[in-house]
Amino acid sequence: MEKCSSIAAYFMEEVAPGALQKKPLRLNDLPFTIKDLEESGCFAYKVDMSGDWEKAVEKYSEDVGMKNRDVVKINPVTMPNFDEKLAIFFEEHLHTDPEVRFIMEGSGYFDIRDVQDRWVRIPVAKGDLLFLPAGIYHRFTTDEKDSIVAMRFFKDAPRWEAHNRSKQETEEMVERKEYVKGIKAN
Ligand code: LAC
Ligand code: NI
Repeated sequence: MEKCSSIAAYFMEEVAPGALQKKPLRLNDLPFTIKDLEESGCFAYKVDMSGDWEKAVEKYSEDVGMKNRDVVKINPVTMPNFDEKLAIFFEEHLHTDPEVRFIMEGSGYFDIRDVQDRWVRIPVAKGDLLFLPAGIYHRFTTDEKDSIVAMRFFKDAPRWEAHNRSKQETEEMVERKEYVKGIKAN
């Protein structure tokens, strides 16, 4: 598994949630590099899916202490309450554990807040593995193709728990404070 040497991420335009969120929404031509990504505490990897990818992602997930996993298939045909689910995923939130996702099929967008609190859109597709640290504000949406299959990793039994961004409560969480301390130390 290799660290990506470049990334197709960009600053994004903010829109009201709904159909528009699935468009690329590129705001400008300012670069957002791997260095910028890593300064925000995130890491992107490319997994060669012609090889033993399962072994590679398993090893990685063990290395980061997240060896439990599940697979989600996000699409309007097989996912019950698709629109509601997607609306929840697109709410700006944080987790108390890192968010580790391996894209097995399809494509979509992870949006993260960079160190200056600007929205950055990270397009992902089959073979991409993304690590977002605990405490970073982010969200997810499918793109206009509306189909993605992702493996999610968890420290404990698979259970998705998100804390939607608030002015005070999420700012006071230990994980958020640790995260902010970490990016300032960079
Ligand atoms: C997740 C995405 C929605 O937490 O951020 O799975
Ligand atoms: Ni999340």
